[in-house]
Amino acid sequence: MLKKKIISYMRVDDRVVEQLKQDFDVTCFYNHEYLGDAAFDHALQEADGIIGLALKVNKQLLQHAPKLKVVSNVSVGYDNLDIEEMTKRNIMATNTPGVLDDTTADAIFGLLIATARRIPELDSFVKEGNWNISLQPEQYGLDVHHKTLGIIGLGSIGSAIAKRAHFGFGMNILYHNRSRNKEAENTYSATYCELNELLENSDFVCLMVPATDKTKNMISASQFKSMKSTAIFINGSRGKNVDEAALYDALVDGEIHAAGVDVYKEEPTNKDNPLLRLHNIVTLPHIGSSTIECEYNMSKLAAENIKKALTGCKPPTLINKQVWEG
Ligand code: DGY
Repeated sequence: MLKKKIISYMRVDDRVVEQLKQDFDVTCFYNHEYLGDAAFDHALQEADGIIGLALKVNKQLLQHAPKLKVVSNVSVGYDNLDIEEMTKRNIMATNTPGVLDDTTADAIFGLLIATARRIPELDSFVKEGNWNISLQPEQYGLDVHHKTLGIIGLGSIGSAIAKRAHFGFGMNILYHNRSRNKEAENTYSATYCELNELLENSDFVCLMVPATDKTKNMISASQFKSMKSTAIFINGSRGKNVDEAALYDALVDGEIHAAGVDVYKEEPTNKDNPLLRLHNIVTLPHIGSSTIECEYNMSKLAAENIKKALTGCKPPTLINKQVWEG
């Protein structure tokens, strides 16, 4: 019997690709080869499934994929998928929630500490041989422990951050969320707040919401103005949730003290992005969930999703359940 055809797009673990090859005819694309690339277009015409990271699956792409049954994202975020259009076409969409919560929380909490304690800057100070002069008070960072952390978006990753902050650092937790998170209120003494109340009272503001039409630019000039001038802003969500020009102004004008960002509006961000010239921002290349172990676990779950979908079973982490329920 002819094997079903799969496109493996960026960041699927090699070991997982080898396993998929036992059951499927897999064509791999490792970079941003995309519509217009002859090999990619050809594979798309034939594909029953796609597995990978951040491929923009929109109407235009779907018009070139007449046989497609499933797109399996190797990420929890799925703002790259047009779910409505996929559902209309009976195409399943899956993601990888759960397996990355602790890994992402480690990275985002690490970014918070690195920004507060100015770790990258001080690392360069030592490596560049400047430690023959004494450290100046202007180079000191700010305390993290026992401060107030405001988490916007207290889902499972936000809760894992709250856990670290509460039990590890004795922090006071405020949160803003679409719905109340009673478990976090009971376990981490988290207090629900309206957004502005959170912004005004937090020493650290950590953004963890998914990217939707409603969250686009949700942190912009007026939100930065509401924050304390000593506040540190952390973006562990998606770049499009923040107005980058407003973030730049807030950092330059001293409306906030510093920022740590893992995500950008355009990724990879251009090296000329003015944010990169500022001393009071610590940046990462969108690696919240990217550890050796976690990338493998996400690839395994994504492979299970695509395998189940193409063998007539319900994928474990299906997003658009309507396609399954009919
Ligand atoms: C996720 O899983 O959404 C991570 O941010 C990687 O995109």
